[in-house]
Amino acid sequence: MKKILVTGGCGYIGSHTILDLIENGFDVISVDNNSRSSTRLLEGIEKISGKKIKNYKVDLCNFDDTHAIFQENPDIAGIIHFAAFKAVGESVEKPLMYFENNLVSLINLLKCVDEFGISYFVFSSSCTVYGNPDQIPVTENTPPKPAESPYGYTKQMGEQIINEFSKSSKIKCILLRYFNPAGAHPSSLIGELPIDKPQNLVPVITQTAIGKIPQMVVFGNDYATRDGSCVRDFVHVCDLGHAHTLAIKYLLDQKNQTLCEAFNLGSGSGITVLEAIKAFEDVSRVKLNYVIGPRRPGDVIAIYANNDKARNLLGWEPKYNLNDIMLTAWNWEQKLIADEKLFTGKNFQMN
Ligand code: WQD
Repeated sequence: MKKILVTGGCGYIGSHTILDLIENGFDVISVDNNSRSSTRLLEGIEKISGKKIKNYKVDLCNFDDTHAIFQENPDIAGIIHFAAFKAVGESVEKPLMYFENNLVSLINLLKCVDEFGISYFVFSSSCTVYGNPDQIPVTENTPPKPAESPYGYTKQMGEQIINEFSKSSKIKCILLRYFNPAGAHPSSLIGELPIDKPQNLVPVITQTAIGKIPQMVVFGNDYATRDGSCVRDFVHVCDLGHAHTLAIKYLLDQKNQTLCEAFNLGSGSGITVLEAIKAFEDVSRVKLNYVIGPRRPGDVIAIYANNDKARNLLGWEPKYNLNDIMLTAWNWEQKLIADEKLFTGKNFQMN
């Protein structure tokens, strides 16, 4: 079995990707310093797959600790790199923390890739590399505009670093540009685990519905969109996980056409924030308590994907729709509360 190193393996997309890799016959190890995650999702993977995943609790910003992992695992065939901070709003408040964490960790990793001759590298990138696009949907050839946040800049710079590195090292790389990851595994044994107050829309919606957040805020309804709220492309986390397996297989089968290739991973349809709220209310039959508030600095107004390239070259076929996203996210939130009640006896008054 080929061994894949997944950084950020205890995180939301990382854990769903590890599960998909296992189900497709790969051996997986994780590196995650648990600064924004816990091993709970690895326990969930074990419950689903029966496989215990080894996690190296290492900060990739520490080169020596990172290097030691490669010395201990000389059979790593490829790397999928998720580990990074990823909240747009937080990055506007703490830019240097984002540049240091997201770029130093990447560079340390690439130094080890170079030294140990790892052949394949898949990078967790983001649609934020497009900035505020002039035309939507965006394709991989859409010229990137200035990023709207330091987070977006770390992804733009990360892609450039990897692209330049691939030219000198001949390592084969894939850049996967996620749109808005959401939802949870249908088993409700793994899902999104915000360590503190969630920043992303869907976990804010489910925490509002369950009563953890008394009232949520829609950040602006005065944009030039069909209902004034921002447009986003929500893609199910299980579909994202499978795309990573397909990307590794694409590289292992030497199908890559250049040394560094980008792919959009979005559903291909754009919906507004208010439409997402309505979709959740329809699926959950829970009325959400929200108010319209001011715009959030760093927000892109409207973006959604043209995902033809991933479909045609990777053979990626998203299976889950918006209702599946909202239902699986809601089931996961209710599971979290049930577990919390079990362990703490704390009761939340449902809205
Ligand atoms: C979505 C929309 C908010 C919270 C995400 C990821 C980022 C990257 C790109 C993968 C915006 C609005 C949100 C709330 C709201 N993905 N919103 N009230 O900013 O699109 O970025 O996709 O790499 O990692 O974070 O996602 O969910 O934060 O916001 O109105 O309480 O929902 O203004 O329009 P975003 P998000």
